[in-house]
Amino acid sequence: MEKDPPLAPGAERPRRLRANPLLRRMVRETQLSRDDLILPLFVCPGTGVRRPIPSMPGNFQFSVDQLVEECRQVANLGIPAVILFGIPPHKDAVGSSGYDPQGIVPQALRALKEARLDLVLIADVCLCEYTDHGHCGVLHGEEVVNDATVELLARESLVFAQAGADVIAPSDMMDGRVGHIRRMLDLQGYAHLPIMAYAAKFASGFYGPFREAAESTPQFGDRRGYQMDPANAREALREIELDLRQGADLIIVKPALAYLDIIRAARERFEVPIAAYSVSGEFSMVKAAGAQGWIDEARIRDEILLSIKRAGADLILTYFAKEVAAALP
Ligand code: PBG
Repeated sequence: MEKDPPLAPGAERPRRLRANPLLRRMVRETQLSRDDLILPLFVCPGTGVRRPIPSMPGNFQFSVDQLVEECRQVANLGIPAVILFGIPPHKDAVGSSGYDPQGIVPQALRALKEARLDLVLIADVCLCEYTDHGHCGVLHGEEVVNDATVELLARESLVFAQAGADVIAPSDMMDGRVGHIRRMLDLQGYAHLPIMAYAAKFASGFYGPFREAAESTPQFGDRRGYQMDPANAREALREIELDLRQGADLIIVKPALAYLDIIRAARERFEVPIAAYSVSGEFSMVKAAGAQGWIDEARIRDEILLSIKRAGADLILTYFAKEVAAALP
């Protein structure tokens, strides 16, 4: 075989396919879709409450009645799912309002089920919103005790399942909790409920605004004893593998923007659907710079979400979900 002659100088011209919007549309590799979006929502006690979260413009703490109205809008925008976080009326050392069948999230789940919306209801499972010290588990001294916490998380999961959750999403990062929750759900007649595990969750400064929103800032210390070190990528893959082995159906990488390499590596290694949580700090940064007029907010929003898809995520938990859905054609 003869060798191909070298291309004439100037023959390789990738710009040919960028010449106009139609051509660009045809060769576009990645798209955002409504189907990718999951909106996080905060539910609090009371009626008629719609309390703005100052660091997260456009986000609120909703009482159950207002949450139902909000979710109606979310469903009408074509967003398929919400994930619920509870702000309880009182907190204690063991987070008992988190696994109270009359607690705030079970109330919300029952009301939403009754409203029969076209919406997947994901329940975030953790104790940090419900403990007075703000840690994600029960304490022995200043240590978060793993196995006792896992028992309570399984209880909380069952309570949420009984109240109508469609998906259980443990976000605590205790060892072995996915397996424990899976066994509990299976034993109690919820073998059909998927678990969406926050498998690789990093100890991140990007959670700041959320902790204001959920009133869950630790009262001492930090979460580095259970959430992952931001320096560790191989360990993230190990965490994901452990959660999958214990029965996770979907996995979450969190945060998203500063961890795109983790999303990509997980995509290459695992076949399950991958969700990325674009967290509160990622949202607030864009909102704040946008409000200053320093950046084109909508453009940067879409560029960030697209980067998360390009990295390999199938789903994105984002506080931008309503805005994006409203802007999509
Ligand atoms: C609870 C939880 C947190 C977030 C989701 N679930 C906070 C934390 O770990 O402190 C953060 C979400 C966000 O910042 O948007 N464990």
